[in-house]
Amino acid sequence: KEELPIPQPPTHLYGYLGNLPDLDPAFALRSIWRLADLYGPIFKLDLVKRQSVVLSNYELIKEVLSDDRFEKNVTGALQELRPLIKDALFSAYPHEPNWHKAHRTLMPVFGPLGVRKMFPEQLDIASQMILRWDRLGPDNIIDTADDFTRLAFDTIGICAFNYRFNNFYAEHMHKFATQMSESLLEAGKRAGRTGIENNLRIWSAQHLQENIDAMHKLCDDLVAERMANPRPEINDLLNTMLNVADPVTGEKLDVENIRNQMVTFLIAGHETTSGTLAYLFYNLLKNPETLQKAQQEVDQVVGDGPIEVKHMSQLKYVDAAIKETLRMNGPIPAVQRRAKQETLLGGKYKVTPDMGIMINLKGLHNDPTVWGDDAGIFRPERMYDGFPTDAWRPFGVGMRSCIGRAFAEQEMILNVALILQRFQVEMADPSYELAIKSTLTTKPDGFSIKVRRRTGKD
Ligand code: HEM
Repeated sequence: KEELPIPQPPTHLYGYLGNLPDLDPAFALRSIWRLADLYGPIFKLDLVKRQSVVLSNYELIKEVLSDDRFEKNVTGALQELRPLIKDALFSAYPHEPNWHKAHRTLMPVFGPLGVRKMFPEQLDIASQMILRWDRLGPDNIIDTADDFTRLAFDTIGICAFNYRFNNFYAEHMHKFATQMSESLLEAGKRAGRTGIENNLRIWSAQHLQENIDAMHKLCDDLVAERMANPRPEINDLLNTMLNVADPVTGEKLDVENIRNQMVTFLIAGHETTSGTLAYLFYNLLKNPETLQKAQQEVDQVVGDGPIEVKHMSQLKYVDAAIKETLRMNGPIPAVQRRAKQETLLGGKYKVTPDMGIMINLKGLHNDPTVWGDDAGIFRPERMYDGFPTDAWRPFGVGMRSCIGRAFAEQEMILNVALILQRFQVEMADPSYELAIKSTLTTKPDGFSIKVRRRTGKD
């Protein structure tokens, strides 16, 4: 077959800056989406430190999902987070032994049975949010990004290491949350700068280091405290990591790695879940018939009584609405891969292991050959229809896909059900149109709601 060159936008400043100026440093993904419209389903960017091939349709993307020829590429902002989380699950290079060890040790607790056991803790935090909304009343304006972030943060804190950040009891979020969001923002900025520029930003680097030290300290203290005073009665991830040996090597994770995993769960699990919940309520409110269907289902399945873990699998429409939201507005909009060896993509485009391959999930999740011409419309029912499962990838790819998926799905269904059971939800500003903000993940910008207790729901 004939080999073809990969299309590339013109480079800048005689090639010195490559395509770096084509990417908006505040929101690189938006530039990628625009370039995909201009250059099509495959194009290449020269990003000075690295080359990236961007794929935007199902035909090309399905090829790079295989773990035989391709693997996760730890690059960009994720690579910049390595000083914070090193070889923990999210940011480990494929060859690092701690990834395999931690994956084997933690898979069972993140599986369906393990996650069911965390239901009471998830309910504890969800109930705090519901009570607060109820107490603040129907005129209170709820900034979804803020409250869902408090929710997701506290939920992981308690499930992962039995720590209460108590974000619903304070005006400002816990300082750990601020340290983390500043670090994620800075990691994203560093990924978009040249090495020289990063070296010149001494103060930003120092502030990042201070934040990293503070986050490490909080987690180190929690690990030390648990080791000094074991709490075998608690069902959390920290106990698993301290006490369960990897079935293959027979070794437990070392304390530094345990701390890195703790920070990782917070990074990987709080913005993603909170962003999805915010997008979901935006979609439901913009399409009132879907909101009505979801609420009717909650009334039928849960009624007025207490919510139980058995209801989770019965809330099928709510689940479909979450999945449809993840298709249209997944909070992680791109997944990074690389070829293990030189190979031809689609039988004609040469890629080498030193090139990054970016899966543009927006392209995949809107490909009309899979999703039809109404891909731009929020229609949860389409999740009941058959579609190729590899065309829906909001939780990532292959062996490096999301370990927290079942945890997040249970948390999201639970919270949607509790909110719809108790409240009528409306937009604070009915003219609001979706605006997106982006750090490591994306979420709606400035999207607020109001909630009013449903009559008879005391
Ligand atoms: C990995 C999405 C919730 C922990 C990933 C990846 C995606 C993703 C796309 C792959 C990233 C990559 O290839 O670089 C999501 C979404 C979530 C969610 C959409 C919620 C709606 C969570 C939660 C946790 C979590 C709640 C933890 C409690 C992780 C970890 C990894 C990961 C540890 C790395 C897995 C590995 O490489 O072995 N997630 N995630 N995620 N996620 Fe999630």
